Amino acid sequence: MKSIKEINFNGRKVLLRVDFNVPMDDKKNITDDTRMRESLPTINKLLADGASIIIMAHFGRPKKGGFEPELSLQPVAKYLETLIGRPVQFTQALLGEGVAEEMAKNLKPGEVMLLENIRFYPEETKGGVALAEQLSKLGDCYINDAFGAAHREHSSTAVIARFFPNDKYFGFLMENEVRNLEKLMQDAPRPFTAIIGGSKVSSKIGILENLIDKVDNIVIIGGMRYTFTKALGGKIGNSICEDDKMDLALELMKKMEQRGVKYYLPSDSVIADKFDNNANTQVVPSNAVPDGWESMDCGPESCKMLREVIMSSKTILWNGPAGVFELPTFAKGTHEIAKCVAEACKQGCFAAVGGGDSVAAVKQMGIADEMSYVSTGGGAMLEYLEGKTLPGIAAIKD
Ligand code: 3PG
Repeated sequence: MKSIKEINFNGRKVLLRVDFNVPMDDKKNITDDTRMRESLPTINKLLADGASIIIMAHFGRPKKGGFEPELSLQPVAKYLETLIGRPVQFTQALLGEGVAEEMAKNLKPGEVMLLENIRFYPEETKGGVALAEQLSKLGDCYINDAFGAAHREHSSTAVIARFFPNDKYFGFLMENEVRNLEKLMQDAPRPFTAIIGGSKVSSKIGILENLIDKVDNIVIIGGMRYTFTKALGGKIGNSICEDDKMDLALELMKKMEQRGVKYYLPSDSVIADKFDNNANTQVVPSNAVPDGWESMDCGPESCKMLREVIMSSKTILWNGPAGVFELPTFAKGTHEIAKCVAEACKQGCFAAVGGGDSVAAVKQMGIADEMSYVSTGGGAMLEYLEGKTLPGIAAIKD
């Protein structure tokens, strides 16, 4: 498959799908522009070549079927202008009204337009072929740079590719995500450690099952580990637990043992008498949490264990925080992981970080650049790690 690096798009009208589903505050200020910045190498390459670009993107999950002012991409168009230093043509008119079509037709080399939220068309999320065809007529080739939406089989993320059988490509962001994820799942230097956290086992079952055959160590952290602790007969007080997943937790531990995967559960916990940054706290063994108390973070012994496992690994996948890191009192475990992973990377370890909370933690600490790779995908990365085929990737590769 050809990389866009090898192609000159001079004079071409490129249909570019990006994931500009960025967080905004209530005044419509973008609070984290990472996804937009990560698409700049692709946009700038196309502009340098002398292409014109018609950008397709979604924002939120519109429900009404048609234009919804609060989900308009207008603030994104304005912000993009500041990032690329040139005007971004934008209309809130939807295809079929003629305005957007006319704009696309008149677009000149070096000019950029952004279509209004592609999810305002109800066919988009159904993977409608008619919408894909309508979009395909606006340009003469297709580039997908929307890794964050690659797990969606939508008109603009996957179906549209069939109208460009010989002219469909990954953008640089997508290429980078795919290369790193393939390295992780097919060619990872050993020992390979997966650190998996978050509040619910149920949302990580797929990953854990798929990783058992690929890694040497699995460290289970965050709220989800209490389902494992309770299943093993521990006392967990008011700590979060999915009682209906305890059998599954036992089964997973058995499978890990059978396949020779070492698994680690943090041995001590910082517990609190209420869910509050100023709560009373104490450190106790993780399987002896008194009634009325709940676990909020890993304790110091667990932090030591995490450091040892991380520093002896050649590959790390980290997905999910160690505790309630958004409350500073309970951020130590998550910060310790981030610091150790950054240190391991300096010693040549390959570390991939994914999932909203762990990515937020490394950004909060200002050390995202010290990781080998930070994914822009939430659900997309999870599904990839579960071993699923992502339609947005398959549509370009096939
Ligand atoms: C995301 O934010 O993870 C992507 O943009 C996908 O959004 P979705 O979950 O609404 O499809």
